[in-house]
Amino acid sequence: MKVVSSIAELRSELAPRRDGGHAVAFVPTMGALHEGHLSLIRAARTAAHIVVVSIFVNPLQFGANEDFDSYPRDEQGDRRAAEETGTDLLFVPQVEEIYPPAAATTVSAGSLGTVLEGEDRPGHFDGVCTVVAKLFNIVAPDVAFFGQKDAQQVAVIRKMVADLNFQVGVEVCPTVREADGLALSSRNRYLSSEERSRATALYEALRSGRDLLLDDADLDTVEKKMWEQLAERGLQPSYARIVDPDTFAPSRKDGRRLLVVAARLGSTRLIDNLLIEE
Ligand code: PAJ
Repeated sequence: MKVVSSIAELRSELAPRRDGGHAVAFVPTMGALHEGHLSLIRAARTAAHIVVVSIFVNPLQFGANEDFDSYPRDEQGDRRAAEETGTDLLFVPQVEEIYPPAAATTVSAGSLGTVLEGEDRPGHFDGVCTVVAKLFNIVAPDVAFFGQKDAQQVAVIRKMVADLNFQVGVEVCPTVREADGLALSSRNRYLSSEERSRATALYEALRSGRDLLLDDADLDTVEKKMWEQLAERGLQPSYARIVDPDTFAPSRKDGRRLLVVAARLGSTRLIDNLLIEE
């Protein structure tokens, strides 16, 4: 595995490896790699000859009161994990490499970026789109891998790729969970052990929401039930909704539906979702 921090070096490392038409798979991350990230790298490994992973804590997608400064960083552990999982090129740029002081152009996620997560975190998805667009232009991958864990991010990226004609396939990998159902997240390490035991409420609320829906309960009842289940365990819900997984508009009663929840547990904000395909 080669570790590079400049765009020029990444491009010059990639050019000869592409010779002969070898495909490039790309996994963008913010580091503090866990099994969720590693599942994306493994999927990328089986999909293409060349696997590029980026680690960049993107300041543009954090709000002023959010955890950019304290976001977990573990460069040595990440290098080891990325290498063991089959990464060929690890791209670890500094902030100035991605955002030189004079940079002024950004990408807007549009209306999809202003609901649910976007409503709670204004500007978040514009920051995600801007950095992912830049990373796509820097790496020029054939295919990029994202986690279902961040379902609205997936919808936003797919829309950006379609709207701005990026020539990249978007692959989505299932959410990796702990044995008790908690979705792996870099932010789980902020939880105290007492909070950690209550954090299972997110997945439990989603599962009872799914059971109710499959039992033909109406959408309002299910949303209310999920909200109450989070609150009963002492979480502060931000939203508990059933939406269309592509548009994030309120869902119809049948077809593909996505249950989405977000809640604060102490000072940590957690999200999770469950897709109903039938
Ligand atoms: P980050 O939170 O580091 O996540 C990187 C990728 O790992 C995302 O596609 C995310 O959905 C996926 N992921 C996280 N937890 C997962 C889990 N438990 N199971 C499966 N996949 C999981 O998402 C970002 O970084 C950033 O917004 C980024 C796309 C890198 C742009 O800055």
